[in-house]
Amino acid sequence: MKVLVVGGGGREHALCWKLKQSPLLTELYCAPGNPGTAAVADNVDIADDEVHKLADFAADLKIDLTVVGPELSLSLGIADEFHNRGLALFGPRQQAAELESSKVFAKRFMERHGIPTAAFEVAHDAAEARAAAKRFGLPVVLKADGLAAGKGVLVVEDEGELEVGLRTLFEERRFGTASDRVVVEQFLPGEEVSFITLCDGRRLLPMATSKDYKRIGEQDTGPNTGGMGAHSPSGMLSSDEAATVIEKVLRPTAQGMADEGRPVRGVIYAGLMLTDSGPQVLEYNLRFGDPETQPLLMRLESDLLPVLAAGAAGDFGEHRLAFRKEAAACVVLASAGYPASPIKGEVIEGLDTAASHEGVEIFHAGTALRDGQVVTAGGRVLGVCAVAPRLEEALKRAYTATADIHWPNKVLRHDIGRRVLE
Ligand code: AMP
Ligand code: GLY
Repeated sequence: MKVLVVGGGGREHALCWKLKQSPLLTELYCAPGNPGTAAVADNVDIADDEVHKLADFAADLKIDLTVVGPELSLSLGIADEFHNRGLALFGPRQQAAELESSKVFAKRFMERHGIPTAAFEVAHDAAEARAAAKRFGLPVVLKADGLAAGKGVLVVEDEGELEVGLRTLFEERRFGTASDRVVVEQFLPGEEVSFITLCDGRRLLPMATSKDYKRIGEQDTGPNTGGMGAHSPSGMLSSDEAATVIEKVLRPTAQGMADEGRPVRGVIYAGLMLTDSGPQVLEYNLRFGDPETQPLLMRLESDLLPVLAAGAAGDFGEHRLAFRKEAAACVVLASAGYPASPIKGEVIEGLDTAASHEGVEIFHAGTALRDGQVVTAGGRVLGVCAVAPRLEEALKRAYTATADIHWPNKVLRHDIGRRVLE
């Protein structure tokens, strides 16, 4: 099969790495890809938002399956464009992708289907939001309705932060029209986990459990990022608890979307808070998590290609996902200034040495090639991943490898997995 992966981050490098191992694969392309994907696929110079060009490419090359990484492509309707042209694609249509691209839609959807989530109100201006925040009491969470690259969620602790947040959303309009509507939501204390499943429109294939670390700073301090590290298993959910999450959250989500005429042929990823009163949904993503996908795919035993092809065709049939018992971890190396304005263009050294450690795989994210050298080109630069029989060992292997990689403004969290192990 000829396969195209859309996107150019660590998640897409991991997808290419895994798909490359399939005996069914004949040709692999990645658009736009990065220097990491170039080692396993042919990079194609088309951006993830050039939906028509991507469809032209897939049609010209008779691509058998396209797998989409980024939410942007999905929210722009890449699945609709491909579907209308008879091209197979694993990823939800625009209407289904709204479960991720509109927080207001997601909250009202959960309300309609009795899916556990924090109490909320929808505000259209600062006064409405302030009144809602007063009703809930502080701390409270403000969420821009639309996509904001993971930065449109503000947890506000006191009156001062509330006013700054309201100004950011409604006056400065930092997220543009994404904050025309704002979800004001009750703050939920607890531990976060990710639960990622594949859906063929009706049925779900759960992935192993995973956990990511969203804040830039150690001990979960500082602003939210796309994710500074991840591991699988999550170390937070027993198999009984995982089964509860599937029954109470993920199955009703797949069923509810199908019932509303928005079946999801793609990923259903629930970001959950484990609270004293059970798991509650913080958000949905209708795409693979980044960086959770990197450790998950390192643990995946099954061939991913036929599963995604079957899902794109709307029926998993007999396919199942089997995961190795081993654990996997991913430590993100970022560039100073991330998430606001990362420093770019610095030469990265030590990649080969780092990759030579047992069980280690290095996935590229924000890298570029300049005069034959790999340089930093984004906030999250590399995902240093490792598998090992136990989580502790996987983390240790990943951290050992991170010490071999150098550039002047390299930053990382040293506490990925620490709390789980304690
Ligand atoms: P979201 O994009 O909705 O997942 O929000 C981003 C991050 O904000 C989450 O990963 C949580 O760390 C935090 N967050 C979101 N909603 C809540 C909530 N209701 N209570 C506590 N933290 C939250
Ligand atoms: N790691 C969180 C996400 O992919 O949104």
